[in-house]
Amino acid sequence: LLAPLIEAGVNLRTSDVPVAFPTETVYGLGADATRSTAVRGIYAAKGRPSDNPLIVHVCDLNMLRRYLEPASTTTPEQQEEEKEETIPAIYLPLIERFWPGPLTILLPNPQPSQLAAEVTAGLATFGCRMPASALARTLIQLAGAPLAAPSANASTRPSPTAAAHVRDDLAGRIELILDGGPCAIGVESTVVDGLCNPPAVLRPGGVSIDALRACPGWHRVEKAYKDHAEMGAGNGNADSGKGTATAAAAQTAPRAPGMKYKHYSPKARVVLYEAAAGGPGAGAAVPSAEDLERALRRPDEAGERQRTIAVIRTRHWPVAAGLPIGAALQQTNGSGDEDREGTVLAVSEGTLLGSGADNTEVLARLLDVDLGGDVRGVAHGLFAALRELDRREADVIFVEGVSDGEDIAAAVMNRLRKAASDIR
Ligand code: TXA
Ligand code: MG
Repeated sequence: LLAPLIEAGVNLRTSDVPVAFPTETVYGLGADATRSTAVRGIYAAKGRPSDNPLIVHVCDLNMLRRYLEPASTTTPEQQEEEKEETIPAIYLPLIERFWPGPLTILLPNPQPSQLAAEVTAGLATFGCRMPASALARTLIQLAGAPLAAPSANASTRPSPTAAAHVRDDLAGRIELILDGGPCAIGVESTVVDGLCNPPAVLRPGGVSIDALRACPGWHRVEKAYKDHAEMGAGNGNADSGKGTATAAAAQTAPRAPGMKYKHYSPKARVVLYEAAAGGPGAGAAVPSAEDLERALRRPDEAGERQRTIAVIRTRHWPVAAGLPIGAALQQTNGSGDEDREGTVLAVSEGTLLGSGADNTEVLARLLDVDLGGDVRGVAHGLFAALRELDRREADVIFVEGVSDGEDIAAAVMNRLRKAASDIR
């Protein structure tokens, strides 16, 4: 791993082509945050709108403190004489508790800033985190500068949680992917703004809101993001199509600019079943006969190809969400492609039959993924499952939601609501 790490460090110092690297949340697409041409390379590779600011990744607190200072002619020696803490006090308990780790904090961007203007998209603040991944921190050290890095997916696709996912999206657009195996957490960092009062969560992520609330100064932290379901856009909006911002969404200006975009979407149509209110024990409804009938309906362009219906289940759904299946499902282990090791979840495959005891009519191919009942496990496997079902050409994916309250479930449900065309 040392040779690619050193090569990546050299690329980050000298080239304008970004480098993909692992973090504990998702893979990032990194560039030297102080060089405009390098940062522009990120937007170019991703096809990302440049009004969406990037998170700045640091390897230690001294690096962060350096970028809280305005660009100036002051020598490092002169700066070191100042002993006063420049990191806003509100963040110190969070840093103590969650860094390195999946938490991004907003900081005042000094004027003039040492960061490239392209990093902040014109905002007065910059988002910063210190990743828990030792590989990521070593890379930042080798680059000798903080790394601006969004998730390393093509814009709108689910975030990559393994090197193969990055390759699927960005092959030919970048030159180097550091492979650190699958990401431990699997959803992005929590983004918080402690510069406002009360402090706010701009994006739910790998640190739960309850964990934040337990920190001094953060007990009143507010949720400043809105999920589709809460904007009244979820139920029955299927035909308005995925990718279209709803009127309700447009009226609510999101404070983390990235939250306004369509995100995390596989090619398949995602139908999300919300867990009933009533805590972790409450289950989600299973797909109805009408849901299934609609899923089986073949759009004209699909021709004679057999429909593929997929199920992602979490805590309560039985195999295939209880839909009528033929013989027991077969566990299939991906393509046997070594490149995809660590990315392929256990997917079971079978056939969907017409309803009625003796009905043997094959209605569709059926794929089943079990992410398990543990919210951390669901977060870990979620993006990989959406991507794997795409690779297997699912037309529709029925997903069993988890209830929001528990640990990082809010992050899981936020991503799922964004991926879904239908919420039930
Ligand atoms: O876990 C993560 O955060 C990953 C890994 C690679 O570190 N990165 C990531 O970056 O998810 P990205 O670019 O996909 O998402 C960054 C989010 C966006 O919603 C963006 O709008 C918000 O953070 N953000 C960044 N800087 C901001 C700022 N100054 N003010 C408000 N929101 C900001
Ligand atoms: Mg992203």
